Amino acid sequence: MSKKPYYITTPIYYPSAKLHIGNTYTTVAADAIARFKRFTGHDVMFLTGTDEHGQKLQRIAEEKGVTPKEYVDEIVAGIKDLWKLMDISYDKFIRTTDDYHISAVQKIFNKLYEQGDIYKGAYEGWYCTPCEAFWTETQLKDGKCPDCGRPVEKAKEEAYFFKMSKYADRLLEYIESHPEFIQPESRKNEMVNNFLKPGLQDLCVSRTSFNWGIPVEFDKGHVIYVWIDALSNYITALGYNSDNTELYNKYWPADVHLIGKDILRFHTIYWPIMLMALGLELPKQIFGHGWLLVDGGKMSKSMGNVVDPVVLVEHFGVDAVRYFLLHEIPFGSDGLFNNEIFIKKTNSDLANDLGNLVSRTVTMIEKYFDGVIPAPDEKEAVDDELIKLALEVPGKVEKEIDKLKVSDALDHIWTLIRRTNKYIDETTPWVLGKEESRKGRLATVLYNLAESLRITSALLSSFLPSTSAKINSQLGVEVASWNSLSAFDGTSAGTKVNKGEVMFPRIDVDAKIEELNKLSEAQKQPERAPMTPIKEEITIDDFDKIDLRVVKVLECEPVKKAKKLLKLKVDLGGEIRQVISGVAEHYKPEELIGKNVILVANLKPVTLRGELSQGMILYGSTDDDSKLLATNPGDLPTGSIVR
Ligand code: ME8
Ligand code: MG
Repeated sequence: MSKKPYYITTPIYYPSAKLHIGNTYTTVAADAIARFKRFTGHDVMFLTGTDEHGQKLQRIAEEKGVTPKEYVDEIVAGIKDLWKLMDISYDKFIRTTDDYHISAVQKIFNKLYEQGDIYKGAYEGWYCTPCEAFWTETQLKDGKCPDCGRPVEKAKEEAYFFKMSKYADRLLEYIESHPEFIQPESRKNEMVNNFLKPGLQDLCVSRTSFNWGIPVEFDKGHVIYVWIDALSNYITALGYNSDNTELYNKYWPADVHLIGKDILRFHTIYWPIMLMALGLELPKQIFGHGWLLVDGGKMSKSMGNVVDPVVLVEHFGVDAVRYFLLHEIPFGSDGLFNNEIFIKKTNSDLANDLGNLVSRTVTMIEKYFDGVIPAPDEKEAVDDELIKLALEVPGKVEKEIDKLKVSDALDHIWTLIRRTNKYIDETTPWVLGKEESRKGRLATVLYNLAESLRITSALLSSFLPSTSAKINSQLGVEVASWNSLSAFDGTSAGTKVNKGEVMFPRIDVDAKIEELNKLSEAQKQPERAPMTPIKEEITIDDFDKIDLRVVKVLECEPVKKAKKLLKLKVDLGGEIRQVISGVAEHYKPEELIGKNVILVANLKPVTLRGELSQGMILYGSTDDDSKLLATNPGDLPTGSIVR
């Protein structure tokens, strides 16, 4: 049987900060769907990756004193580690800094330009000079630079624009005639009514005010602005515009782009229009899931309310976190996280329902049949209900996954788990075990429990892979195939069970919440680096040897070919001196000119990079030099003595 290709993507993540469990959700959900599709016989391509360009990343890197690539390399390695921890089974990880992506995006840009869909114009916005950053009106915070809070000026920047409006009618028609294209339905209406119908503005697709991006090949001062770069990943990852388009031919159009609702507009408007302009097929579906909220608000770094997935995994194991995410963000709506809900859910669904079922089943097989799964013998009417349900659930789970209703799929599995627990109560194996004459009946009951668990475990393998593996190992069975779920006889009698550790130990809710709260308190307080030790003691006479003066900076300029050095002319109140300062990474020349600063006036002159330095300006700085400021003598007149 030839396998049907299935292509699912997550957004590519910004490597700007540590991921929190909110943005972990998209990838965990995509993983569950991808695993389930593989399980049911599809040839799956599951793509994820990182969106590594842009001014913000460039600025963070500059602040840290590394190149943007060095900075993103480190963060991306961390993201890959996180996906490993979360058991993410992606088939490909694309980085927008990968060479094949860069060259494919350049070709896309050239084509759109050559066919007249991209034109050169001017981008009007607000400019923050010290930050060298362009902002739109809406990005400003109280009319000031959102990064540094300083005043901004109105400015114009040359830029390329994409003629979105040209394709708007075609897109509208497409959306109306393909009701499954934007899901859930409510989001489709929002996109159509709020954005498409009022008319589309042309999209700015290049920038000149920063250079950490893919260069426009035919206009070197420009870099391609994020969305064309980012959205293209879904096809460049498959080799579009490369020498080898095998994967592209096989997997495009995508079955689903899974994304959070905050980036729906880009995926349902800009992306389809880009594809139309390129003459390519549109993805079959774009699914905008809800957010993970924390006590009312969206979990986000800027809100300072993020929950670290690594900490949760450390305390509760990866599957408790996966289960929570997959179950608590219902189809299309938002979900709520707090420690209490999380722990209670883990206790009730995982420790009680699932964990107990496994441990009771294995314990009873050990106790009554020396740890060997017996062959079924005497049947009773009560068995039929369990068997019927166990045979129905796989199909129900498949239907829900086809609609991307992951949470509902889990509900069906839990219906089976709870029904199986109820079957234990109904059949009371501990009573049967007391009478030798009921051994045949007991065999059937325990066989049915094991078989129901085999089916449960097979279904769980997509959602909670390591839990599923643990159940299999306790039951002594291999991973069940999808086809084997159509009959209630897949467990081989005679199989030896192996009681393992408790899979989900019950958590003491109050104690654990207290522990977690303490932990998050501790995380809120930035760790203080140990203090730099104080130098050897000196006397007042020693200090008196140093002559400190208030000086005014008259001129300041960079020293040629010396990245860190500035050349200053300072006025001592009667004498002009030249001083070289190693602060070019912290000050722009114009920021020092006119300032009063403090000079060590009797320091022996030296020559630095061929320039004479007559003294030294005093600066205060952090240990790691990440922050540095010239010592400010206030409004003391030039020439004043400091002591
Ligand atoms: O948007 N709950 O990347 P990103 C649920 N680079 N999902 C959340 C969430 C929350 N509290 N916070 C974030 C980008 N997300 C772009 C994408 S694609 C061509 C470019 C989701 O790192 C968010 O909706 O900001 C998105 O799906 C994912 O995390 C990555 O967000
Ligand atoms: Mg975002």
